[in-house]
Amino acid sequence: MKIRKETTVMNIVIAGGTGFIGRELGKHFEKQNHQVKVLGRNKNNNPKVIIWDGESLGNWKNELKGTDVLINLTGKSVDCRYTEKNKEEIFDSRTNSIKVLEKAFNEIGETPKTWIQAATATIYRDEYEKPNNEYEGIIGESFSVEVAKKWEKIFDEVSLETKKVTLRMTIVLGKNGGAFPMLNTLAKFGMGGKQGKGNQYISWIHIHDLLNIIELSIKNQWVSGVINCSSPEPITNEDFMRKLRKKNVLSLGFPIPVFLLKLGAKLIGTEPELILKSRWVSSKKLGKFRYNFKYPSLDKALEELK
Ligand SMILES: NC(=O)c1ccc[n+]([C@@H]2O[C@H](COP(=O)([O-])OP(=O)(O)OC[C@H]3O[C@@H](n4cnc5c(N)ncnc54)[C@H](OP(=O)(O)O)[C@@H]3O)[C@@H](O)[C@H]2O)c1
Repeated sequence: MKIRKETTVMNIVIAGGTGFIGRELGKHFEKQNHQVKVLGRNKNNNPKVIIWDGESLGNWKNELKGTDVLINLTGKSVDCRYTEKNKEEIFDSRTNSIKVLEKAFNEIGETPKTWIQAATATIYRDEYEKPNNEYEGIIGESFSVEVAKKWEKIFDEVSLETKKVTLRMTIVLGKNGGAFPMLNTLAKFGMGGKQGKGNQYISWIHIHDLLNIIELSIKNQWVSGVINCSSPEPITNEDFMRKLRKKNVLSLGFPIPVFLLKLGAKLIGTEPELILKSRWVSSKKLGKFRYNFKYPSLDKALEELK
């Protein structure tokens, strides 16, 4: 099996790269003149997209030749009702994509130098006591935790000789996708009150920091394993929404009680857990790697996002 050698211009493949994080990553690396290819199920007006189905081998495997870095972001959004059909797709899209990428590299007889795999900080329990870091974090119990565990287990089982990095991402804040635009719109229209009791933690990371952490883990051989992608200042939902209202120059924001959230979630086809779970996550590893956050506080992040 050929292992790719370090080169200045890298060949980067982003599987599931048509979504929010993938598009930002693609732009980030293209600006640095790296070669970026995207695997997706639809072109979405992007000529760089190579069509695959995320589960079976096809001609797309030949496009992996010469890959230095694989970044796999594939996964059906968890922002949906947890029906049996959706649950299956949430699991399968994550696990099948890993398995078929491994198979594809085996078939072409190459292995990327680095494989960066999306994962989620939702793997930790509903937490009110202290932040969960990579070494002492307490794993939770729920459907979304089961997804998170299986996702990482399947990645752990990949037997290619590649450096593996598992990104346990918290909520990624960016202008062009993810949860932020929706929360910001709520705040703009006076609906930016606390959600539920408001004492649940929101751990978050600005998209630019996430991109920098991915770059750091590609460029430094000693960076590997699980990394909690979380800014150093997780904040309660109540404080998060207060800051968001302030940014929108609105002092008023109707709080949304639990029963209304549950009803609302059903109406808009999502799960209340996404908002009500307390996610208190920190990263000891990023400190060890001496990573300097560009947006360590929510105030700084919101300044950029406004
Ligand atoms: N954004 C966040 O705050 C956050 C936080 C923690 C973890 N994550 C994880 O990070 C990854 C990327 O996040 P994102 O915000 O960029 O998500 P996104 O915008 O929903 O993009 C997900 C990608 O997965 C692909 N996909 C969806 N369903 C699929 C299926 N059934 N089979 C094959 N491919 C499928 C989509 O590509 P096509 O539909 O074009 O094929 C899309 O490019 C996801 O796995 C997500 O769970 C995100």
